[in-house]
Amino acid sequence: MDKLQTEGGAPLEGEVRISGSKNAALPILAGALLASEPVIVGNVPHLQDVTTMIELLGRMGVTVTLDERMNVEVDASSLARPFAPYELVKTMRASILVLGPLLARFGQADVSLPGGCAIGARPVNIHVAGLQAMGAEVSIENGYIRARAKRLRSARLVLDTVTVTGTENLMMAAVLADGQTVLENVAREPEVVDLADFLNTLGARIRGAGTDKIIIDGVERLHGGEFRVVADRIESGTYLVAGAITRGQVRLKHTRPGHLDAVIAKLQEAGATIEVGSDWIEIDMRDRRPHAVDLRTAPYPAFPTDMQAQFAALNAVAEGVGTIIETIFENRFMHVLEMRRMGAEIRLEGNTAIIKGVPRLQAAPVMATDLRASASLVLAGLVAEGRTEIDRIYHIDRGYEAIEEKFASIGAAIKRVPG
Ligand code: EPU
Repeated sequence: MDKLQTEGGAPLEGEVRISGSKNAALPILAGALLASEPVIVGNVPHLQDVTTMIELLGRMGVTVTLDERMNVEVDASSLARPFAPYELVKTMRASILVLGPLLARFGQADVSLPGGCAIGARPVNIHVAGLQAMGAEVSIENGYIRARAKRLRSARLVLDTVTVTGTENLMMAAVLADGQTVLENVAREPEVVDLADFLNTLGARIRGAGTDKIIIDGVERLHGGEFRVVADRIESGTYLVAGAITRGQVRLKHTRPGHLDAVIAKLQEAGATIEVGSDWIEIDMRDRRPHAVDLRTAPYPAFPTDMQAQFAALNAVAEGVGTIIETIFENRFMHVLEMRRMGAEIRLEGNTAIIKGVPRLQAAPVMATDLRASASLVLAGLVAEGRTEIDRIYHIDRGYEAIEEKFASIGAAIKRVPG
């Protein structure tokens, strides 16, 4: 198993090109199942999770072709088996995103129930209840969600909890439903908006994405089309923290500054100078030690849970004490235990991490436990004294495109070594 080796010390300087968003690309590729004609999706990031989604579509008999620039063509006219097997779903929970589209277009879906997850229980009860309210018959059989519906019908739903993939699944299901569906208390994440824009390009009639109420007028069919995936705001945020934590100067290009307001505000609070343009962001933290910041994760537009671990690394070397409250997932502090092994002073109290910055972290062998935790350990490794070795980096390859090349190009001492 490969490992990443980092040597701490160098302030990062230079430019990073931000990739397409993982969490937009995955629902968009699943959403292509709704179209009866070929769809071309551009700016798809080259990531393990994307490969898994493509494999999942392929297993169903869908024709997927990609060129060297990761333009992915999905032709779901040939779909033969509306089935998502356990062996793929267990490697990627986002596989659940095929449930809504399959049911809407083919009237049936057999999708393995995702199991437990390192960061929390992550049930899918809201996805299932929503489909039932739209007239689907759903049962759980041998670990699979078995859903059937001749044609889904419109419904008015108020979701119990704000859920990103739950919103996406129900929005996709409603696209081909009979009549007007209203979804309230939905997720407002930019990835939901990107999915709605994609579906509208294919002839869907979705309004309100990006607000807490989405209205979908069902149509008979979706046609083909072309779409480019939005920039990854979490990858963007991770490289901004890299600039801040190493006291460097990093410029992101091909990003979407407007999707990072909460993250940028916290970096400014930490003492960074930030400039933004229409598709770029530059952070300057040269010759300054960051100040610790307090933050609380919550659904968009508040501070994202997917940036919490990276800010834990920042607080670990900042001046002062910072408190991080995680409200989305109940077990998303695994990185804290690893950072402590690097000399970080962090106290955990339930869903709160109280972090007292130390002047310097020390290198240590550490283990990645989930995607964002791995990213935070890379950041910690970039400021630790000595050589840090990060194990289980398959987590990082699920969500960060060419991470060591991108970091190396801005001056980081980082390399991948076979384990
Ligand atoms: N929840 C329920 N019931 C449901 C669905 C969700 O109780 O049916 C709860 C969850 O347990 C959680 C909360 O609702 O406590 C919010 O979870 P959400 O459903 O929004 O998470 P998700 O859709 O499974 C997506 C991202 C995650 C990101 C979260 C929160 C994708 C593919 N995944 O997950 O991304 O952390 O939203 O923003 O979009 C990552 O990229 O590293 C990652 C984990």
